[in-house]
This record gives sequence, structure tokens and C-alpha cells, in this order.
Amino acid sequence: MGEAIKERAVFATKIGAVATTVGSAVGLGNIWRFPYEAGIHGGGAFLILYLIFVLLIGIPLLCAEFIMGRGTRSNVLGAYRKLSPTRHWDYFGILGIVSSILIISFYAVVAGWTAEFCIASISGQLEFTTQEARHEGFMQLTTGANSIIWTLIFLFFNFSILFLGVTKGIERASNILMPLFFLLLIAFCINSFNLPGFSAGINYLFQPDFSKVSSSVILGALGQAFFSLSLGLGCMMTYASYFSDRNRLGKTAATTALLDTMVAILAGIIIFPAVFSFGLSPEAGPTLVFEVLPHIFNQLPGGMWWSTLFFLLLFLASLTSTVSMSEISISYFCEEKGMTRKSATFTSAFFSFIGALLCAMSFGWLSDFKIFGLNFFNLFDYVSSNIALPIGGMGCSIFVGWVVKKRYIENQLTDFGAFKFKFIGILVFFLRWICPMAIFLIFLNSIGIL
Ligand code: TRP
Repeated sequence: MGEAIKERAVFATKIGAVATTVGSAVGLGNIWRFPYEAGIHGGGAFLILYLIFVLLIGIPLLCAEFIMGRGTRSNVLGAYRKLSPTRHWDYFGILGIVSSILIISFYAVVAGWTAEFCIASISGQLEFTTQEARHEGFMQLTTGANSIIWTLIFLFFNFSILFLGVTKGIERASNILMPLFFLLLIAFCINSFNLPGFSAGINYLFQPDFSKVSSSVILGALGQAFFSLSLGLGCMMTYASYFSDRNRLGKTAATTALLDTMVAILAGIIIFPAVFSFGLSPEAGPTLVFEVLPHIFNQLPGGMWWSTLFFLLLFLASLTSTVSMSEISISYFCEEKGMTRKSATFTSAFFSFIGALLCAMSFGWLSDFKIFGLNFFNLFDYVSSNIALPIGGMGCSIFVGWVVKKRYIENQLTDFGAFKFKFIGILVFFLRWICPMAIFLIFLNSIGIL
């Protein structure tokens, strides 16, 4: 253990730490998952609920994970163990580690699609003229052997980066990548104004129709808030364990939440006007974004280049997210199981490859294999996002609110008294009461008890 701590790296700059954290948060969750979840859950009402959850549950929980991570400088299980003598909390650590593998499994499949779409745009394959051709092309890209190969290639990239350690490459890449991606999204957003379906799309996204709110919409919005902010598994905790001692945790949490939410809303402004302009349905599900985007690129001058650049950046943004997910299990294997970083990376890669193969095959050979009516891909997504993340978040909230000493929280939030942090009282109140109760009530509601 002693050695592991000495070896622990620290992000070089404050900006680097923020960029890396934002790099973890911003990814397919914003561009792919948010629009499709908003689409199947009725648009505006979903957006409002999602925003409320980010503000009232997401930001306090980000602070809680940061406090545990930077305070203990440990992996997720180690953090619980260092802060409490009882072993009951271990379950939350284990839940985080197992679920991180489930999430990578389906995430890698979608990231594989982005790589395929990137290559397909370079070679002109995305320039479809008819609706049918587009659908056909999409099916070819996302099912069968191609998709499996690209999923594996993506994972290969992911674990190669992890071999080299998190701080250097990722920090540098995130510093450049995130601003660039943001600019590109703003450009596409401006382009949306010219689409014939602009107002229909905007109305769909921003005009809440509260009659559409059901328990599944509420649970979906909660799951999306967790997913998008990388919360509930100890991912942000693990990253915070690499923060320097002079990294204002509260500010980092607020910045991360703000930027992440802005990217999701930008994605919505790009996707929904296009959905209505090209006569598609917002309820297409996980394939929505991949069916809609080629339409947008096709009507742009130099569309092929835009498309290539977009999918390339999305691929890289996905990488910065999966790297953060894998770091959860890798730091656990290193610090709790005494493995070298190399074997820890191999072990994590091994489980991720198996999970990802199952998910990649759910659109082809395994499409008829269903558990509770869901294929592996949808099952892993549902179980992790809507169940494991909120439970993990509830555990962390209760733990920091009730078990961790207030003095400890204060020291972390003020960098040991270096400055004042006004919101400590309210944060602890939220972590003790509001967050756990809200999550609990949403659960009761979703299983029909409330
Ligand atoms: N937040 C990332 C995204 O939006 C995905 C992600 C990274 C994640 N780390 C996580 C999701 C930990 C849940 C838990 O794409």
C-alpha cells in the first residue's frame, strides 16, 4: 500500500484537472444518450427533470465523490475503507467496480460505431440519397462482424492509453480536445437555425408537456443525470484522487456540471431540429443520433469533412470517458489486490472485452437472446444507469453526509482553510437528506409503490 501511494500521480495543473474531469463527463452520454433518452421520454419535461437532478443531486454528489477521492487518495473501495472501520460500505465500492465494467461494455460498442462512421465518412459511404439507403447503410455499419471488430479496436485504444498512466497523455489531450469539440458543436448548433424543422425541434426539446411525465420518465432523467456526470461508481472519486491539494473542489464540481450540461443541451439543439426536418421519429432509441447526423452532414457544403471531424472528435471524447471508467477497476486492482499496473490493466481489459463482445453481438447473432425483454446491450445500460448508479450515488451521499466528519469535509472543500467555502452547511444537508431521499423516492415510484 505504502508504495502504491508514493507512486500516485497528480494532475500537473488545475486547468488540466478540470479538463480531465470534464473529459470524463463529456462523451457519448451527452451526444448519443441524452438525445435518445429525451426522445423516448417526451422531450421538454424530461429536460427539465434532468436539469433539476443535475442541480440538486448531481452537484452535491460530485462534491461528495471529490471529497472522498482527494481526501483519501485511494481507489473507490480503499476510500470507503480509509474513512470507516466497518466493512459494510465495501459493497458500494464493489458495486462501482462491477458496474464500471458493465458500462464500458455497451459504451465501447457505440464508440465503435463512431469510429466506423468516421471511416465511412472519409470514404463517402455516408452520403446517402434516400431514406432507405441511409437506413440500410446504418444497419450494415452497426450490426454483424464490423461492429464487433470496431468495438474491439476501440477497447484496444482505451487500454493502450491506460497502460501509459492517466495523467500525462490524457491531461494534455483533454486540454485541446474538449474546447475543440465544444466549438464544433456550436457551429452545428448555428446550422440548426437554418433547418426547416428548427422550431418544431426546439419546441419539442424546450416546451415541457408535463402530462407525459411518468415514473419511467423520472427514473430515466435521474439515470441520465448520473450517467452524464460520471456519478455513482466512484469514477469522479478515482479522478479526484489524482487532484492536487490546491484544486478547489466546489468550483471544479460546478464547472464540470455546467459544461457537461451545456454540451448535452447543444446536442439536443443539433439533433431535434434535424429529426423534424428530415421526417424522422424522436423515439428511435439508441440508434437515433446515428440515423440523424448523416442527414445533417449531407446538406452541408463540404459535409464529408464536417462529418469526419465530428465523428473523430466524438470518438476521442468517448475515449477520455472510458479511460476514466477503466481507471476505477485498475486503481482497485493495483491498490487493493497488489497487482502491478500492467496486470491490473490486463485484468480490467479482460472483463471489458467479454462484456463488450456480448453487447456487440446483441445487434446481430445474439439479438434474439433477451433477459427481461432486453438484449445484453440494453440490459447492461438499464441495470447500470437506472439502478447501479443511483444506488451507488445514494451510498456515497449517505456516507459523506453521515459517516465522514464535518471537519474532514470542511478541510477538503477549503483546501485546509486556504479560503472560505460558503455552502458547506447546505451541502451537508443535501447529502444527508435531500439526495438520498430523492433517490429513494424515485426508486419506490419506479417499482410502483409510490
Ligand atoms: N459521463 C460519460 C459520458 O457522458 C460516461 C462515463 C464516464 C460514466 N465515466 C462514468 C458514466 C462513470 C457513469 C459512471 O459519456
